[in-house]
Amino acid sequence: MRTNVAVIGGGPAGMLLSEILHRHGIKSMVIERQSRDHVLGRIRAGVLEPTTVDVLRTNGLAERMGREGLPHDGMKIVWAGRESFFIDVKQHLGKRFMTYGQTNIQEDLFAAADRRGAAVLSEAQDVQLMNVSSEHPFVKFRLNGEMQQLDCDFIAGCDGFHGVSRASIPRDVRREFEKVYPFGWLGVLSKTPPLPDITYCNHPRGFALASMRNPQLSRYYIQVPVDTRIEDWPDERFWTELKLRYPQELADAIVTGPSVEKSIAPLRSFVTEPMQYGRLFLAGDSAHIVPPTGAKGLNLAVSDVFYLARALEAFYARGTTELLDSYSQTALRRVWSSVRISWYLTTLLHRFPGASEFEQRAQEYELEYVRSSHHAQVALAETYAGLPLEEAE
Ligand code: APR
Ligand code: PHB
Repeated sequence: MRTNVAVIGGGPAGMLLSEILHRHGIKSMVIERQSRDHVLGRIRAGVLEPTTVDVLRTNGLAERMGREGLPHDGMKIVWAGRESFFIDVKQHLGKRFMTYGQTNIQEDLFAAADRRGAAVLSEAQDVQLMNVSSEHPFVKFRLNGEMQQLDCDFIAGCDGFHGVSRASIPRDVRREFEKVYPFGWLGVLSKTPPLPDITYCNHPRGFALASMRNPQLSRYYIQVPVDTRIEDWPDERFWTELKLRYPQELADAIVTGPSVEKSIAPLRSFVTEPMQYGRLFLAGDSAHIVPPTGAKGLNLAVSDVFYLARALEAFYARGTTELLDSYSQTALRRVWSSVRISWYLTTLLHRFPGASEFEQRAQEYELEYVRSSHHAQVALAETYAGLPLEEAE
């Protein structure tokens, strides 16, 4: 088999890349390890930056989002016993976010792929990236028990944090930056009307978050210790704990109901540099992970894909390699901005086990500063909204 770009992984990064390449007449084949049902069953975040909305819209992927997504203006921060405040991205930057679940985006991407008869191979086993530093890379994998080879010009490593692509960059070329947080998030999806705003909460019992998918579907999270077992958290315990963390008027406004999904995710920050090696280019979670505070993960996958697709397009249309050569540097500027804001919001809003009284006081005064300073709120809004995409030179 032969294609222009072999795309490893059919998550949002891989499927979006394949879609954009198709729109520019560049062939690709997506090689995904899991079944489609498995990929569609994953419940992930759902807050889209203005830039992400633009990229989806430009590529014909915004029709259902326009109908079902919930635009919103920023985030509310509440804080035990103090006045709450709102980081108003619309007011400070004139831009709006969109709440639209990643699961829906994934469905829209598969639907678009089906419409164009795209080559998307599911349940591929033992995927191996070969000759990535040569001009003739190829991918080997097993499909229905038989070994296959896909020859290509480039490989896009969109196979998430646990994929094989990152490890195909030699260890002595790669530099990794990591921070593991001493807690996780227990998340619940429920068919109940959400609170009106995405509301982050700092409380002595731990962080909490109220989010939404649509007017009848809410998403809530609470900070839990890393060794928490999901069996120990029946719905009733979850709702009681959630309400204990929110100020009374918000706790009273939370509508509870049976959970339709419940999961625990650990929190970590991770970046690998460079995001390219020879003819292999990483995009999305294969290159970086952010803690979910700020909901940046999907948005970064989209901006990586935007830069990579643009560079590939320049190569195929004009034979130029400048944008490919500078892909990693360009993508990493935006990645680090979001990595930093995700780390900052995580540090600001969680209770760290073992934090000293000094650290606790410093956190409280930082929150107080952000609450009371217009300038701090504008700065926070700017990074929370995500840096604008850079023009090609
Ligand atoms: N071979 C082929 N596919 C693989 C392999 C492999 N060895 N390993 C993993 N995959 C697949 C996974 O099954 C998954 O479908 O790669 C896909 C990667 O998808 P995601 O993990 O969703 O990552 P990405 O597409 O980069 O999406 C960005 O950022 O913060 C998150 O929630 C956000 O999932 C979103 C992600
Ligand atoms: C979500 O809606 O799932 C969500 C919202 C905001 C976050 C993380 C997750 O920071």
